[in-house]
Amino acid sequence: MLIRITWRRAILTLLVLAAGALLFAWSGIFNIAASGGHWAITNWVLHGVMRNSVRTHSLLVEAPPPLDDIALKARGAGHYASGCAPCHGAPGEPQNPIIQRSTPHPPDFSESLDDWTPKELFRIVQHGVRYTGMPAWIVPERRDEVWAMVAFLEALRDMEPEEYRRLAYGAEAPRQPPGSSAGIGGLGTPPAEVLADCARCHNRDGQGRDGAAFPVIAGQNEAYLLQALRAFADGSRHSGIMQPPAARAGDEALRALAAHYAAQPRQPVPQSFDPALLAEGERIARQGMPENQVPACLSCHGAEALARNPSWPRLDGQHAPYLEGQLALWREGLRGGGPYHRIMQTVASRLTPEQAHAVSAWFASQGGGE
Ligand code: HEC
Ligand code: HEC
Ligand code: HEC
Repeated sequence: MLIRITWRRAILTLLVLAAGALLFAWSGIFNIAASGGHWAITNWVLHGVMRNSVRTHSLLVEAPPPLDDIALKARGAGHYASGCAPCHGAPGEPQNPIIQRSTPHPPDFSESLDDWTPKELFRIVQHGVRYTGMPAWIVPERRDEVWAMVAFLEALRDMEPEEYRRLAYGAEAPRQPPGSSAGIGGLGTPPAEVLADCARCHNRDGQGRDGAAFPVIAGQNEAYLLQALRAFADGSRHSGIMQPPAARAGDEALRALAAHYAAQPRQPVPQSFDPALLAEGERIARQGMPENQVPACLSCHGAEALARNPSWPRLDGQHAPYLEGQLALWREGLRGGGPYHRIMQTVASRLTPEQAHAVSAWFASQGGGE
């Protein structure tokens, strides 16, 4: 017998199928338990879809910066230890068995990492993977931070546990995932475990490590430090790397941390610059550029102005790439901050990248010291 396919019959069949699917979903027969894992075929389909999606979307990713940069790798590693290792494991830190019971479970990078290209890794880390628990970067627009993570992942493939520990926890901090040990500081002293968390990246003395990986916070104005930390904690200053430690510290600890780091002596960081570049930078810092309505930077960032406005930052003895990076973030509309940060948005938007480069170099070359 031949059944003629008509529009009516086709639509009716679809409706019956849809009703069947709804009934199936409503009945609760479908087993959503993670314990059994996916069937091999489901795994194959899902992972295939994910691979293809990543490959296609990564075509639009810009060319990577030089990834063999110790500052990038250290910044990525510091965040990896608290933001990624709890799911993916790390060299010398096997994956948590609880995590292995999730479906799909995160690949164990203490064993291996597939041969994704840097652009593909960028895509995965920037946007995460839907339906899997793989989170997106907190601020996907911070492409500089996502590239730092990619630089670290590239190096992770053949990294020894020793090297990982140094890159992720610093030379001085004990190997200690954040929040893993209790410690109570005295009145006005930061709790030991919170300071240990900051020290992984900034050291206890606030000088940082691994070249320009982390800004110098030693000897910075206390009021500015507190304002910056609160801005990270409430997300009004955007950084996928700094927001989590500031948010998990809690406001009371932030006050103590600002006092602690403000009291550390500031050592100038060794950097060398071309004298012509410094001369150009000094001119902008001292005189500004009246023709472009750029005020003299020292009118706010000089010693006298800072004495009047303790919630404004000193810039001397800072890493030049950090200062330049912050100016670039303001130009892109990505740098928030305290109540006065919009002043800087205006100032930075009037500087060309070359001028920002020169003036950052000049401030960086200025002595540090008390
Ligand atoms: C809550 C757990 C979780 C956290 C935290 C997490 N991931 Fe993932 N990640 C996953 C899961 C689950 C997958 C598997 C996705 C899949 O199967 O398609 C994954 C996949 C990946 C992949 C693709 C690996 C592959 O070969 O398929 C990379 C790369 C990755 N994650 C990097 C990171 C980085 C870097 C971080 C930290 C910024 C991070 N992940 C944080 C759960 C997590
Ligand atoms: C995983 C590494 C890491 C950890 C942990 C970390 N920081 Fe940071 N910190 C950074 C990076 C990277 C930046 C630069 C952020 C940016 O580019 O937006 C930064 C920026 C800062 C700034 C802003 C400096 C300025 O001149 O505006 C302060 C203040 C700061 N951190 C303090 C802390 C404190 C206090 C802690 C502990 C609660 C901490 N950090 C934990 C990496 C880290
Ligand atoms: C009218 C006052 C004012 C002038 C002029 C000014 N700044 Fe600023 N600047 C600020 C304030 C306020 C902040 C703090 C913003 C925040 O994070 O809340 C700041 C922050 C900065 C930062 C970030 C520091 C850090 O540690 O993250 C840089 C870099 C900077 N200024 C560079 C410059 C340069 C270069 C010039 C001159 C071209 C300049 N500023 C002129 C007020 C000023």
